[in-house]
Amino acid sequence: MTSSLATVAYIGATILFILSLGGLSNQETARRGNLYGMIGMSLAVLATVFGPQVTAEGIPMIVGAMLVGAVIGLYAARKVQMTQMPELVALMHSMVGMAAVLVGYATYVDPEASKNLDSAAHAIHAGEIYIGIFIGAVTFSGSVAAFGKLSGRIGGSPLLLPGRHWLNLLGLITVVYFGREFMNAHTVQDGMLPLFIMTAIALLFGIHMVMAIGGADMPVVVSMLNSYSGWAAAATGFMLSNDLLIVIGALVGSSGAILSYIMCNAMNRSFISVIAGGFGTTAAAPKAAGDASAEPVGEVSPILAAETAELLRDAKNVIVVPGYGMAVAQAQHTVFEITKYLREKGVNVRFGIHPVAGRMPGHMNVLLAEAKVPYDIVYEMDELNDDFPDTDVAIVIGANDIVNPAAQDDPTSPIAGMPVLEVWKARTSIVMKRSMASGYAGVDNPLFYKDNNRMLFGDAKKMLDEVLMALKT
Ligand code: TAP
Repeated sequence: MTSSLATVAYIGATILFILSLGGLSNQETARRGNLYGMIGMSLAVLATVFGPQVTAEGIPMIVGAMLVGAVIGLYAARKVQMTQMPELVALMHSMVGMAAVLVGYATYVDPEASKNLDSAAHAIHAGEIYIGIFIGAVTFSGSVAAFGKLSGRIGGSPLLLPGRHWLNLLGLITVVYFGREFMNAHTVQDGMLPLFIMTAIALLFGIHMVMAIGGADMPVVVSMLNSYSGWAAAATGFMLSNDLLIVIGALVGSSGAILSYIMCNAMNRSFISVIAGGFGTTAAAPKAAGDASAEPVGEVSPILAAETAELLRDAKNVIVVPGYGMAVAQAQHTVFEITKYLREKGVNVRFGIHPVAGRMPGHMNVLLAEAKVPYDIVYEMDELNDDFPDTDVAIVIGANDIVNPAAQDDPTSPIAGMPVLEVWKARTSIVMKRSMASGYAGVDNPLFYKDNNRMLFGDAKKMLDEVLMALKT
């Protein structure tokens, strides 16, 4: 493929990626957005593999690597459960980071890469390598730590080292100092030591940054690492002089940054304080989810599935609030069956989606779309919050932190200030979960003890099946 044809293909792929991002911003066009993304990526891969930068001898190696990658990808796509998606995404971000590190080192030791560069261009090239490896290493180790937290292998409580901000500052100063050493190195051997030291600091920095973040703030970390992975890809593009990679990396990096900003707004957090870690943890450090000591104490009023069905049948307005437990139980299809039944009987059923419900951005929307819940009855938290006082039944399916009134009432709570769905303002709220265990943030939920709240204990799918059966009899 000639270089001009490759450029045309790159431009085509870039346009498709922009259309893809545009499509993904709306549920109704998301499928199309994905399709654009897939076509764009195929075009990009073909234009790169058969483009001017790859020699004929390199093609079998690339095709071999692609086959191995495709087999792993297919296996993961079939095996990974929907509830494990956030961990998988974190793992994939880590691979982008690792790729940036490896490409950085390979470019540095490759004499061909800097053969024809004059001194100014050489300095820019060295700068690209240093920054690229730094971003890549932070992304890699941060994403591995996020994978550990999201998969429950590492506890959700923030790790708050004494003087952690000073440690970060010291690390940054050291990285800048060794950056200077690296730029001044005359041989590859001389440059290796500063590069190694910077990589080690960047790896520690990535782990420290994610470990210092409390459970409820993880959504921001997930989107932030998404953004970092984009910048790591852009850095790889600079090192490899690949324009498409630079553009795609910048697209991912900036859209991830916008998402992080949206997530911060949704959580009422300042971006800087989330990155600095330990936000809202001074008064009461959150306990790990499911930790018995995190379980609240008090009287709750249980309810049976048949009674729930009765309340729903008699209601005029119902709001369903899904959370992570709905994903675990895979209860979305039964939720839709119940919704269909109630709507046929004239009940106004709507869904209230919290921006950080579940474990990844848009988690609930994806599940509801999969179950074919019509988009026009799915509302954002802000659109519905004022309607709870006029709601007969608010039914909470496997959600916890996102309906916790302590976020508004208890300034010492680790989730203080986070906007929540005010289900307790409905005539009756029903919380469907298996036990009194806390949610991801590991905090007590006073909602469970409110006079107008009832607890429907059990697996969400099983309970909803019983409710549906009771409704139909
Ligand atoms: P959580 O607060 O984590 O609560 C989920 C609840 O579901 C748990 O209390 C659990 O209680 C229940 N549950 C689990 N399996 C169930 C099953 N099979 N049937 C019925 N219930 C089940 O979830 P949420 O309310 O959706 O809030 C999300 C939390 O995750 C927030 O703290 C958020 O910050 C955090 N987070 C979000 C993201 C993104 S990007 N969305 C990423 C990382 C972290 P039982 O064990 O008693 O059943």
